[in-house]
Amino acid sequence: MDLYTSLAGEYFHAIIRSYYDLISCYAYSVAAEKVAKRYDAEKRSAHAGYWRMYVRNYHFHMFVPRYYYLLDYCAFLINELSAPQKLVPDKQGEPRYVSYDRLLEPLSRAAKGQDSRGALTRSDLIDSVNAMRGFGDGLSSQGKGLLRRFRDVVTHRYLPGIDVMTASTEREGSRTRVHSRHGRLVRITQGSGSYDQYGLPEFRFEDLEPVARVLLLSADQSLDKLHSIGTIKKAFCRSDIEANKNRGEVADYYRRVWEGWYSWFAYACDPFVKTFFFLFNGGFGGERRWRESIIDRLDLQPGDKVLDICSGTGTLAIMLARRLAGEGETVGIEISASQLKVARKKEKIPGLSFIQGDAQQIPFSDSHFDKSVICGALHEMPKKVRQNVLAEAYRVARPGGRIVISEHNKPGQKWKATLFDLMERLNPEYPTYKDMLKCGLTNEIELAGFRILKTDVTCWDYFQVVSAEKQI
Ligand SMILES: C[S@@+](CC[C@H](N)C(=O)[O-])C[C@H]1O[C@@H](n2cnc3c(N)ncnc32)[C@H](O)[C@@H]1O
Repeated sequence: MDLYTSLAGEYFHAIIRSYYDLISCYAYSVAAEKVAKRYDAEKRSAHAGYWRMYVRNYHFHMFVPRYYYLLDYCAFLINELSAPQKLVPDKQGEPRYVSYDRLLEPLSRAAKGQDSRGALTRSDLIDSVNAMRGFGDGLSSQGKGLLRRFRDVVTHRYLPGIDVMTASTEREGSRTRVHSRHGRLVRITQGSGSYDQYGLPEFRFEDLEPVARVLLLSADQSLDKLHSIGTIKKAFCRSDIEANKNRGEVADYYRRVWEGWYSWFAYACDPFVKTFFFLFNGGFGGERRWRESIIDRLDLQPGDKVLDICSGTGTLAIMLARRLAGEGETVGIEISASQLKVARKKEKIPGLSFIQGDAQQIPFSDSHFDKSVICGALHEMPKKVRQNVLAEAYRVARPGGRIVISEHNKPGQKWKATLFDLMERLNPEYPTYKDMLKCGLTNEIELAGFRILKTDVTCWDYFQVVSAEKQI
């Protein structure tokens, strides 16, 4: 293995690990806040204070600097792979101080030139620019403002104040932290030492948490782009690590029945779906028309946050993001790495992101989404999983939020029922499809807590489309 390849492997491994650490910091802090809220409700303020101060703030405190370190680590990697013509040299041609900020400009300049640099071809250079610029994609201007204030005080290298930024806490006994959200004094007493901080805590956790989530999503996409660089890809198989990381979490039924299937079917999926809708929804443009009709049922509004649950190869999520035209947020959650790979190669649209995950544990807080869709996925799941997915869809929907669920159906006419029954038998979904029909899709949606608004059948009655809402 040449030096560049081995460097790329080591560096990228470290980068991915720091990304996972970032996720842990985020998850610990959000979990601790939930615990604190529960104690608040029980009026146990000392306990709530403990969870906020020592767990939530501690992990959030780690999140921000780690995020900036991650950017710098990526800059080190790109800079080293560009040797011997290093991108950030000093006067003697040696790198003295490489950082994300210092790399971007020379990197963009190199990408505009005709040459390759070290192990980076010209197209690698372009990919690196896109990857580096992608960090922070999707942040609102308010979010950017919050982060700028972090950086203004150089908090990513020297960290005074982050505790205070998220300090909304109390503790009794010998160590006390007194805060006042609307007052002017924050006093921190630790054993015999103490210090007073005048001024309001400037940041509230509720404001910072969504910013952190966007940062994680954009970092995920940027790392994917970086991984498309030839040397890095050769040295490091990200999907292996992700598969291993998720192995314990990947739903059992999925691993047994679907993982292998989608590893090859992902590539045939789009043409198959197109052909299906061509045949059963009026010829050319059948798929587009059908998906548009699903989106129409959502009644999208500018600024909506939309979730596509089990987003597959991303066609619907992309159309949703296009419809929002940059004025909102669309997230596709999908368990299959192969399906996601196809999705991520498609059109990039502002406000659209894909995450790999099990829809039984959607990594968003309660009531986060205004609208959601589940399209053609529930019939592939055993009953318990369907129930879990619908319960999660309910949890992340805001009160009054709408969901549109489209599923396979059994047509009333015998010859149609026989035709589609034959089609179902050709793939592994047959038992779960039968079970879903037996239990009744609308029953299951209602049992999850939604109120049914409307039910239609389309495509020779082979699809049922249910619109429902989470009651206020
Ligand atoms: C038939 S495809 C539908 C894809 C997409 N919704 C569409 O409209 O084209 C079903 C998708 O559900 C995904 N899936 C199955 N179980 C899942 C789970 N527990 N969490 C997330 N995705 C899941 C599969 O990997 C597959 O991509």
